[in-house]
Amino acid sequence: MALTSEEVVALTRKHNYGTWRKQKSWKPVHVVSADGCYFTDGAGRRLLDFSAQLMCVNLGHNNPAVVQAIQDQAATLTYAAPSYATTARAELSQLLLEVLPAGLTKFFFTTSGTEANEAAFKIARMYTGKTKIIARYRSYHGSTNSSIAATGDPRRWPMEPGGKGQGVVFGPEVNCYKCPIRHTYPGCGIACADYLEHMIRNESDVAAVLVEPVVGTNGVLVPPPEYFPKLRRICNEHGVLLIADEVMSGWGRTGRWFALDHWNVTPDILTTAKGITSAYVPLGLCATTGKIAEFFEEHFFAHGHTYEAHPMTLAPAIATIHEMQRLDLLARSKQMGAYLGERLLSLRSKHPCIGDVRGLGLFWAVELVKDQYTKEPLNSWQEKLDGKPLVVDQIAAKMMARGVSVQAWMSHFVLAPPLIVSRAEIDDAIAALDEALVLADALLEISVSVS
Ligand SMILES: Cc1ncc(COP(=O)(O)O)c(C=O)c1O
Repeated sequence: MALTSEEVVALTRKHNYGTWRKQKSWKPVHVVSADGCYFTDGAGRRLLDFSAQLMCVNLGHNNPAVVQAIQDQAATLTYAAPSYATTARAELSQLLLEVLPAGLTKFFFTTSGTEANEAAFKIARMYTGKTKIIARYRSYHGSTNSSIAATGDPRRWPMEPGGKGQGVVFGPEVNCYKCPIRHTYPGCGIACADYLEHMIRNESDVAAVLVEPVVGTNGVLVPPPEYFPKLRRICNEHGVLLIADEVMSGWGRTGRWFALDHWNVTPDILTTAKGITSAYVPLGLCATTGKIAEFFEEHFFAHGHTYEAHPMTLAPAIATIHEMQRLDLLARSKQMGAYLGERLLSLRSKHPCIGDVRGLGLFWAVELVKDQYTKEPLNSWQEKLDGKPLVVDQIAAKMMARGVSVQAWMSHFVLAPPLIVSRAEIDDAIAALDEALVLADALLEISVSVS
């Protein structure tokens, strides 16, 4: 007999771990099916998926061409070890040359963004013969030992001192809303990039600088146009590799295939996952330049997985790219993204709890603050780690009750719907957010009247 929805939730809660949280308060929603920009829960409610699950279902749910590609691959070849060549592997490699920044020509396929970054770190260290990686504080690069050690945000803290260091040193992120080194753009000369150069000069043994070109879960931080050309120059001058983690910012999310395309910068290594298959199957990619590839012709490539280049993961990626091209989703991301941005910016003047609204393409953040002048976030990371109820979670729950699902982090929302989203769907999400933000405005009013 089929499980009831309550049983599904109870069994999941009892036997599975809820990620990045204390377990006691975890109440997972039972997802039964999904289609386009919506998923349906166990009670039969259709919910607008306004963060594309984890900013990954870029094509929308249940795209028939991608589903068909999975079925066709399953009917033909379900597995081949990484030492073999497969048609899906060759076809996808050929297609990647069309969409990746020019110069990235050699690929290692993984089953997650985390593993793509692990591969990138190992490749960078083997290739340069150096150890250190410079990452930035407001960043997330994955959950395994090395990738969490390279994560600047406090998700790293519970792993320290065990994972401490691992050859990673942290520099300032680019954040023109709240500059970590207290400069103001324009007019700062991109001092945050200069600081990374200062670090390279003063840390010996630097293999790579690791960046999210548009920072994702840490609040959709979009750099000014001068940042990446300058950072590329710095890396070139010092013989340091530039690793672009485009796990979230890739695949049309910002209106281009990859975020770095906005600034015409090619990294030495690009990692990605999520939108590469619209998350229908788990696939990650670590792409390197031909120059790096050349090195391994005569040097031992000390990396691999059983599931590397798994044909079941590669065939849907081919279909995803073709669907993105057929539906012209880069143009749509740009166009709908501009509309979403306009609508979000219009909320700012209405809600004193909104500190900042920023984004690119269909990738936006709304950051909530206690005070627009001090920019102090509404909740802190420590409160999240301590399992305290966060205001953003209450707002997200209120929106969910109104039929809109959004991802909330600490003190901001990441609004990143499937790239097929319509104006009417954007309007629905904005109406739900507008209504729910009153909750946070009221908290501000209480604190003002008390003080
Ligand atoms: C920028 C970035 N890098 C790496 C990862 C890790 O990817 P995965 O969760 O597929 O391991 C994520 C996940 O959200 C991410 O946003």
